[in-house]
Amino acid sequence: MLVHAITPNTTYEFAADVRTGLTKPLQKELLSKYLYDDVGSALFEVISHLPEYGLTRADERLLRRHSHEIVERLATPVAVAELGSGSGRKTRHILEALCRRQRTRYYPIEISRSALMMCERELSDIDSISILGFEREYLDGLLEVAAHRRTGQHLLVLFLGSTIGNFDRPAGIQFLTEVRRILQPGDSLLLGTDLEKPGVQLLAAYDDELGVTAAFNLNLLARVNRQLDADFDLTLFRHEARINHVDRSVEMHLRSTCNQTVNIPAAELSVEFSEGETIWTESSHKYSSEDVFVMARSAGFRCDAQWIDEEWPFAENLLIAE
Ligand code: TRP
Repeated sequence: MLVHAITPNTTYEFAADVRTGLTKPLQKELLSKYLYDDVGSALFEVISHLPEYGLTRADERLLRRHSHEIVERLATPVAVAELGSGSGRKTRHILEALCRRQRTRYYPIEISRSALMMCERELSDIDSISILGFEREYLDGLLEVAAHRRTGQHLLVLFLGSTIGNFDRPAGIQFLTEVRRILQPGDSLLLGTDLEKPGVQLLAAYDDELGVTAAFNLNLLARVNRQLDADFDLTLFRHEARINHVDRSVEMHLRSTCNQTVNIPAAELSVEFSEGETIWTESSHKYSSEDVFVMARSAGFRCDAQWIDEEWPFAENLLIAE
């Protein structure tokens, strides 16, 4: 696979984001995109196999069962771009169905180079596929993919795994609107959304018995230590998952177990934590099936079809750009 990489100036940006997040007066925060360095991506891959976290398996089941139907609904010829390809395991079903009909160009867009590499290893054996990866943020990558588009070629954008749920609701619509702006009428977006489910099930999914999710979340502090020379003591922070009933989301936090000061030299920062104070690292919003239709419409799409898993409430939604 060819990879278009940016020479990352990322340490500077990371330091600036850490500084902004940890100096917020009311609720300290760290951006969830930083969860996915090499260690974090590997841990998330493990999370997707945990019995408590049914989301990824539901996503994959739907794609396995319905990929033909999905592909038949697409305007062709079509190239595929994926926002956050991860390991590429789920994507195989769609790509195989498509490659039976036409030669297919697949553009994974990822901020994690190791995830890009993993996805290439997983998918390059498919007949009639060519893969061009972009080590980019979602919209930057998608803009480049759109620039590679041949006349008459449609685009199918994959945004699987309910990453949309990691935006708050207005920002989610805003993001879809920006995706829509890069697309042309008739292009499509296959969107995965995790649906509402009982609180106990959600808490188990985001705070598993084995502690993998805790490690995944705490790795964010370990990453700040590694990259910014900080001195977070990981034994003095606890992973916490909370249900937010108003937002219909699960919030992930790291709770300081005592009063402490943490030094982050590369961000020129020293941060005080009081006992019980938290750093908010991510929220995962849950949707009703109708929510998706409304959200699609406000972003300039029409929801053409929706498939829902019976074991783990999760929906695959095919949105068509209007
Ligand atoms: N996008 C995934 C989700 O919302 C990411 C995720 C799973 C996650 N478990 C987590 C993020 C724990 C932070 C902490 O389901």
